[in-house]
Amino acid sequence: MIHSATSRFISGSVRSKYEAHPFPEVKIWETIDSGDYYHHSSLFAAKLFEQHFPDCSHSVWQHVVDPYSTNSVLVAGCGEVLPVAMARLEPRTHHLVGVDICKSVLHRAKYRLYKTLDGFKFVHAPIEEFLTETRQRFSHIDASHLLEYTTNPKGIIAGMSEMLVPNGTIKISVNNSYSKRWMRQLRRAFSSLELKATNPKDIALAIKLLNIATEYSSVLERRIKQISNQKKMKTSELVEYFFHPYENIYEVHDWMKWFDEAGLQIYGVFDRLGELSDIENPLLVPPDADTLQKRINLGFMKGPLEFYLCSQDRRKRQWVKRKRKVKTSFRLRKAWHLPKFWQQNPYLSKTSMPKLYRVWLQSLYSAYQREQNSLGLMGSLDVYAEQEIKSFARYGAILPSMLKDHRAIKKLYDPITKSQKMTREHQVVDFFDTALAYKVERELRKRDLYDSKRFYVIMERFVQSQF
Ligand SMILES: C[S@@+](CC[C@H](N)C(=O)[O-])C[C@H]1O[C@@H](n2cnc3c(N)ncnc32)[C@H](O)[C@@H]1O
Repeated sequence: MIHSATSRFISGSVRSKYEAHPFPEVKIWETIDSGDYYHHSSLFAAKLFEQHFPDCSHSVWQHVVDPYSTNSVLVAGCGEVLPVAMARLEPRTHHLVGVDICKSVLHRAKYRLYKTLDGFKFVHAPIEEFLTETRQRFSHIDASHLLEYTTNPKGIIAGMSEMLVPNGTIKISVNNSYSKRWMRQLRRAFSSLELKATNPKDIALAIKLLNIATEYSSVLERRIKQISNQKKMKTSELVEYFFHPYENIYEVHDWMKWFDEAGLQIYGVFDRLGELSDIENPLLVPPDADTLQKRINLGFMKGPLEFYLCSQDRRKRQWVKRKRKVKTSFRLRKAWHLPKFWQQNPYLSKTSMPKLYRVWLQSLYSAYQREQNSLGLMGSLDVYAEQEIKSFARYGAILPSMLKDHRAIKKLYDPITKSQKMTREHQVVDFFDTALAYKVERELRKRDLYDSKRFYVIMERFVQSQF
């Protein structure tokens, strides 16, 4: 894969950004809820893979039949938080490799993992270089929110596909660039004001301008609330969303075309925000590019695109008689928590979640030990409303193979609602006559940047950020 001078330059600025403002930002003493990350685990991908291809065995199970072979999992663009969660979610027998372009991020990841580092290797390199140089092969690859910050995502996808062992899997998450148009407008407005992420005063000014804008515009207020759970937006969030030095813009069709060209097949789409409730369960029946793009353009789908992929060529399951059962332990067993994003699902009531989540986790562990039975799920399902059962299925907490009753299985595939509701956008505010315009003009004059064209362009960007 060619890592050209331009792409090196861009990688350099992306690296500097993450050195100064790691994302997601979690203080070094804060605990990390690995439960939120369960869908990154190779075991989850494997369970889903075998649901789709019952006559193929995922490569992560191989060591059960052969105790001497190992499984490697690559966490590409790992950041500092994901490795901690992955270390807890992966069995000890799995070798984990975290690759990141940013040295300080890897230092912090190592520090967080100091007790459990065995079996976890970190590589400080751009992913483009790692994929060209390594000879290692992987059972599972996670590339979450990495490809959108690279100049050659197509080449990286092809490189990752080559790294997969037969019947291995890849999880790719990328931003939904269409729904982030409003952020790009604000990014350009700040850039025309010549604000720099390296200057704390500029950061403070950007926050001030956003605060003024949200006082007038309920659309912007809601959008900012959606991206930041905190009362006050963290600097790292502000920089990630409004000062990122590089982010590519591709459509669903582009991603899907590159997957196909790399010999990969989508076997599941993860609907984190419950935005695909009016179509068949996307985790079990992946929608095509047209369906997704149409919904994105209509404003029904704003969340990230999350794909489970496997090679188009799969190997049939080979039944090998197991000589002895291999005991597998997990690094930090107690670290399972209920995922926070489940709580935002409109069809799930908070009280019903914990029980099912426990049952599901148990099933994940036992699946690892090759005992995929239904765990009496059928009985316990009766206590849930139909919409809840369907939502659990969309998160992968119930898979059809866990059930025996055909009618119950059908429910897991069915849409939850008849049609998707459009979230009501409020009236767009013309900021030209507000305190925001006054503040922008004053700042431009203070910085000796004022001219009426620049002022007009900046204000127009704020207006456009509401569309
Ligand atoms: C948005 S963070 C995502 C971190 C992690 N994957 C997660 O989902 O929590 C992007 C990470 O990718 C890393 N990164 C960006 N470009 C990269 C490249 N070309 N090669 C390797 N890592 C890269 C950054 O340093 C940063 O840690």
